[in-house]
Amino acid sequence: MARRNWIPPSVDVSVPNIARIYDYLLGGAHNFAVDRELATQVERVRPDSRSVVRVSRSFLARCVRFMVGQGIRQFLDIGSGIPTVANVHEVAQDAAPECRVLYVDKDPIAVAHSELMLANNDRARIVHADMHDPDSILDHPQTRALLDFDRPIGLLVLLMLHWQPDESEPWKAMARYREALAPGSYLAITHVSADNQDLTLTEVTDLIKASRSADQLTERSYEQVLDFFGDFELVEPGLVGCPAWRPTGPGDMSDAPEANTLIYGGVARKHDVSRPSSDQ
Ligand SMILES: C[S@@+](CC[C@H](N)C(=O)[O-])C[C@H]1O[C@@H](n2cnc3c(N)ncnc32)[C@H](O)[C@@H]1O
Repeated sequence: MARRNWIPPSVDVSVPNIARIYDYLLGGAHNFAVDRELATQVERVRPDSRSVVRVSRSFLARCVRFMVGQGIRQFLDIGSGIPTVANVHEVAQDAAPECRVLYVDKDPIAVAHSELMLANNDRARIVHADMHDPDSILDHPQTRALLDFDRPIGLLVLLMLHWQPDESEPWKAMARYREALAPGSYLAITHVSADNQDLTLTEVTDLIKASRSADQLTERSYEQVLDFFGDFELVEPGLVGCPAWRPTGPGDMSDAPEANTLIYGGVARKHDVSRPSSDQ
């Protein structure tokens, strides 16, 4: 097969990849046969897969609008993915044109396409980096040029942390990001739930394991996902099945009941001043 000209040379098109599978399930065109094959196997086990990605994408738009409503004008989106419809900068700049957005992804295709999409937008950029290297993201010249860490930032870590195994210590990296944010900042997380799930989730995990994908799924419990927020304060309604987070209409929910509980979603705020310790 002739390689299409949008495929960076470092990409192995014979190995399935999570960014491209997600793109496929959202109806995008930046995916290969090997991605579609694994996605089709997953859909056989979980026919609600497209619904799951749709409702979590809809959470993304709601939480960005919420943050803009709270006065946030700059966003850091880690694990931003291949651009699709209603990307963070589009939602944010539609609500407040002055919003600035720094995207981060480790996937070269996601980065190449984001660069193309953002070529004419001087308030949005992408950095090619791994979330496990916070300094390379926080100190990157693009980041420093676009974001002011003395002012509140909306940090988005959506459908990304469940691709980080416990051994990679994702909590450690998240603590570093939380620490770097100014008081009044917000953190939004979506994450596959390990609670009350039936056997289909194990089957999906096994399918991904059997593929040669570099990314493996680690579903986590409510408490484990909560830990990613540290001492930030969850806004109402807390950490919930993401369609139940401030829905604006029936389109934010899925007709498949399991799709409404598979992904935890929550938004939390960094408190304004250091809290006195309890013995003071
Ligand atoms: C399922 S997509 C989510 C896209 C978007 N955040 C959303 O919610 O619609 C997950 C993205 O996280 C990226 N990713 C996974 N592990 C990462 C890591 N360690 N560092 C940076 N990006 C990562 C993948 O390349 C992929 O593009």
